[in-house]
Amino acid sequence: MLILTKTAGVFFKPSKRKVYEFLRSFNFHPGTLFLHKIVLGIETSCDDTAAAVVDETGNVLGEAIHSQTEVHLKTGGIVPPAAQQLHRENIQRIVQEALSASRISPSDLSAIATTIKPGLALSLGVGLSFSLQLVGQLKKPFIPIHHMEAHALTIRLTNKVEFPFLVLLISGGHCLLALVQGVSDFLLLGKSLDIAPGDMLDKVARRLSLIKHPECSTMSGGKAIEHLAKQGNRFHFDIKPPLHHAKNCDFSFTGLQHVTDKIIMKKEKEEGIEKGQILSSAADIAATVQHTMACHLVKRTHRAILFCKQRDLLPQNNAVLVASGGVASNFYIRRALEILTNATQCTLLCPPPRLCTDNGIMIA
Ligand code: KG4
Ligand code: ZN
Repeated sequence: MLILTKTAGVFFKPSKRKVYEFLRSFNFHPGTLFLHKIVLGIETSCDDTAAAVVDETGNVLGEAIHSQTEVHLKTGGIVPPAAQQLHRENIQRIVQEALSASRISPSDLSAIATTIKPGLALSLGVGLSFSLQLVGQLKKPFIPIHHMEAHALTIRLTNKVEFPFLVLLISGGHCLLALVQGVSDFLLLGKSLDIAPGDMLDKVARRLSLIKHPECSTMSGGKAIEHLAKQGNRFHFDIKPPLHHAKNCDFSFTGLQHVTDKIIMKKEKEEGIEKGQILSSAADIAATVQHTMACHLVKRTHRAILFCKQRDLLPQNNAVLVASGGVASNFYIRRALEILTNATQCTLLCPPPRLCTDNGIMIA
C-alpha cells in the first residue's frame, strides 16, 4: 500500500494496466522501494530462435521459442543458410511473443542481452543484427553473451549454487569440463578433441534412419536415441569407451561414431536390408551407444573431480557438479553422473530439460 501511494503519482490519470505494469517492476518488500532490472535475452546461435524476459531476481516474466528441429531432420542436418532464413522469418514474432507474455513494454527494459558466440555465424548474425537495431531504437545497453557461459550459469536460476563448481557442458556443438570460479571466471579442464556428443548422437540417429521410426520421427537425434535405448540391451554390442588411457580430461566421440557405423553396416548385411531401412537391432545399438557415451563422460568427469579436489580447487565434501547443454537432458546420462557424484561425495545439479537445451532464459 505504501508503495502504491508512493508510485501512483508518477502517472497522470494512470490506467489500471499501466499501474500494474509499473508495479511489476518493483519488489514488494514492506517499507522498501526497489526497482528491478529487467533484461530481454535473445538466442539464435544454432537452430532455435528464442527470447525471454527475466528480472534480476531470476523471475521469468515471458518466454517464446521456435525450434527448427523438424525442418533440419528432413534435410539430414543443419544447413546454415536454411537456419539463417528460418531465424529471419521468426525472430520478430518470437521477441514480440516473449515481451507480450511478460507484459513489459520495451521501453521498461533495462538491457538487451544476445548470444554473440560460439555458434553458426549465419545464425548468430540474425540475432545480433536484430538486437543491435532494437538497442539503437530503444537506446538501451547491450550485453554480449557467450553461449556456453550461459549454459554453465543457467543452474543459478533454479538452484542456489555457490562458486566454485564444476560444470560439464554437453550439447550438439560443444563438450567441455570447466571449473566455474565466478560469473565470467572459468578454468577449462577438458574439451572434445573432435565432435560434440550431441553431434555424434545426431549422426548415429540419422544413420539408423530414426526419422522413419514411428515413435521418433519428430525427435532430435539425441532424444530419439534416448527413447529407443529404453527398449534395447546396452550389452548386446561391446564398444570400448574412447581415450581409455589418456591422462587428462579431454573427450572424443568420432571413434565411437565410426565403430557404431561399422556395427550398423554389419547388421544391415546380416538382416539383408538396405541403408535407410530400420534395423531390428536399432534399439540395442541405441542403448549401446548411449551407455558407452555415458561411461566416457563419467570417466573424464571423475578425473576432473579428483584433480580439483587434489588441488583444493573444489571442497572435499559437497562439491557441486553441474551438467547442462542439450545432451544433459538425457536421463540415462544424468543417472550415470549421479552414481559418480554419490561415490565422490559431490552433488549433481542439472537444470530442468527445457533449460538444458537452447533457450532465451539462459541468455537473459
Ligand atoms: O544445447 P542444444 O539445444 O544446442 C546446442 O547448443 O548444440 O543441444 C542440442 C543437442 C542435439 O545434438 C540433440 O540431439 C541433443 O542436444 N539432445 C539430446 C537429448 N535432447 C537433445 N541428447 C541426448 N539425449 C536427449 N534427451
Ligand atoms: Zn546450446
